[in-house]
Amino acid sequence: MCDYEYDCDCFDDELIETSYRLPLIGDDAPEFVAKTTNGEINFPADYEGKWVILFSHPADFTPVCTTEFMTFASMQDEFKALNTELIGLSIDSVYSHIAWIKKMEEIEFNGMKNTKVTFPIIDDLSMEVATKYGMIQPNVSTTSAVRAVFIIDPKGVIRTILYYPASTGRNFAEIKRILQALQKSDKDNIATPANWQPGDPVIVPPADTTAEARKRVEAGSNAKTEVKDWFMVVKK
Ligand code: BEZ
Repeated sequence: MCDYEYDCDCFDDELIETSYRLPLIGDDAPEFVAKTTNGEINFPADYEGKWVILFSHPADFTPVCTTEFMTFASMQDEFKALNTELIGLSIDSVYSHIAWIKKMEEIEFNGMKNTKVTFPIIDDLSMEVATKYGMIQPNVSTTSAVRAVFIIDPKGVIRTILYYPASTGRNFAEIKRILQALQKSDKDNIATPANWQPGDPVIVPPADTTAEARKRVEAGSNAKTEVKDWFMVVKK
């Protein structure tokens, strides 16, 4: 009996379990050693103490991927300021990656020009890393990755997973917003409401005992805290 939601009649169950298991939020990020455009990386050991955005793209020298890389490259300093390193990946060679990012320097898009990609891009011709991270989604392609994004915290734990189809370029402002929300939640033990942006009010974690719920309602709102109900307290 197959436990997977997608139709897997054409796959061997054991292959699916070992090859196509998707990592989950809260899992330790799978370890790997990989060849990249910046030399070999040993993950996550080389990135201890840093946030990492590990992302895959379907192929080098494709238009949507080019706009994504130019956009991410233009935000490299913003991510560095958030103690965050970027790592790209596709099922292409390091030589292809080098030729592609060199070509990108000549392309203008959305006001970006002379764009230099300085973050590493993994050569995953063996598909080892892509397979470990569930970036190969076989009903789409067995030889290229989908657009996956993994946000991994400084302890090497997966905190966010996003998957986009090949035809849709990613929203990098949203990826940065998620990272900022995670960092804010970790620092202040709060949650962030819908469409939260840095500086906006935050949500106090829900009361998990009757006594705590009663205490919150009795204390009521003040200059910094608005009690909307026993389960919903907003902090400025
Ligand atoms: C692109 O990056 O343009 C692309 C890649 C794979 C499929 C479709 C579009």
